[in-house]
Amino acid sequence: MEDVLRAEGITKRFPGVLAVDHVSLNLRRGEILALVGENGAGKSTLMQILGGALRPDEGKIYLEDRLVSFYSPEAAIRAGISMVFQELSLVGSLSIAENIFANRQPVGPLNNVRWGELYRETENFLGRFDLSLNPRRLVKHLSMGQQQILEILKAISTGPKVLILDEPTSPLTESESATLFDTIRKLQAQGLSVIYITHKLFEVFRIASRVVVLRDGRHVDSRKVSEVNEGDLVAMMVGRESQTLALSCGGGRSWAWPGSWVPEGPTSAGASSARNPRTQDTSTWRERS
Ligand SMILES: Nc1ncnc2c1ncn2[C@@H]1O[C@H](COP(=O)(O)OP(=O)(O)OP(=O)(O)O)[C@@H](O)[C@H]1O
Ligand SMILES: [Mg+2]
Repeated sequence: MEDVLRAEGITKRFPGVLAVDHVSLNLRRGEILALVGENGAGKSTLMQILGGALRPDEGKIYLEDRLVSFYSPEAAIRAGISMVFQELSLVGSLSIAENIFANRQPVGPLNNVRWGELYRETENFLGRFDLSLNPRRLVKHLSMGQQQILEILKAISTGPKVLILDEPTSPLTESESATLFDTIRKLQAQGLSVIYITHKLFEVFRIASRVVVLRDGRHVDSRKVSEVNEGDLVAMMVGRESQTLALSCGGGRSWAWPGSWVPEGPTSAGASSARNPRTQDTSTWRERS
């Protein structure tokens, strides 16, 4: 499979922090690539660079083998890379149609918006994803989940080659996540390539075919999803064998990993994460005292 996107040696420093440290990665056409790592690993920073929201200090980006350099998200969108950020960007007081086609509304000779056309286009567009939302509806009246899906539809309405999603299911319910995954698969079937950041490791196995792990701003590994389990990912993310980690957290301290994944004591060390995939949402990792 050919690469649609390639990043080489991307580095980004913030005052006092080396957020991304010479990271290289590639994305193949039609691939869904998961990007995982602990909080602060550099996932969003790296993706914001690919999506034009941040400038790298070093490194090169190739889109379909052409060296590209983006000074804004709009420039990245024009080139074919759309990103949905961790924070929603919709305007609640505007309609679904106005949000999707922000700054791209069909206008008449006097620059007046052709509302009928705008609503028809929006209806057709939503229909492609089997969504029957009224294009006139104000976004503030939608649920969080609907808003998130709309955010993604807005990102793909520009016809990108690459879609970057930064933790898109954080505000979604189970069924909304399922709808989102269906939408992503439909887009994949149409040739879209997706980079999918998540803290919910079970999602990696549900949606992606390959996974890249970042730790402390560095690229740890890139693996086929079929060749790893959640325990492997956790070990790569924290930089130690998960069993060692669990054992070293004894003596009155434990890691507040959700569910039953991390054992309280050595006897159950190494309890299988793969058997209980729902329990791991790594965004909630923190040390308890
Ligand atoms: N605008 C900024 N200014 C200064 N430091 C920043 C900025 N953005 C990110 N950082 C730092 O860069 C590092 C990487 O942050 P980043 O947000 O990319 O991590 P992440 O993997 O997306 O984390 P999370 O899972 O919490 O979203 C962190 O140490 C973070 O504090
Ligand atoms: Mg982030």
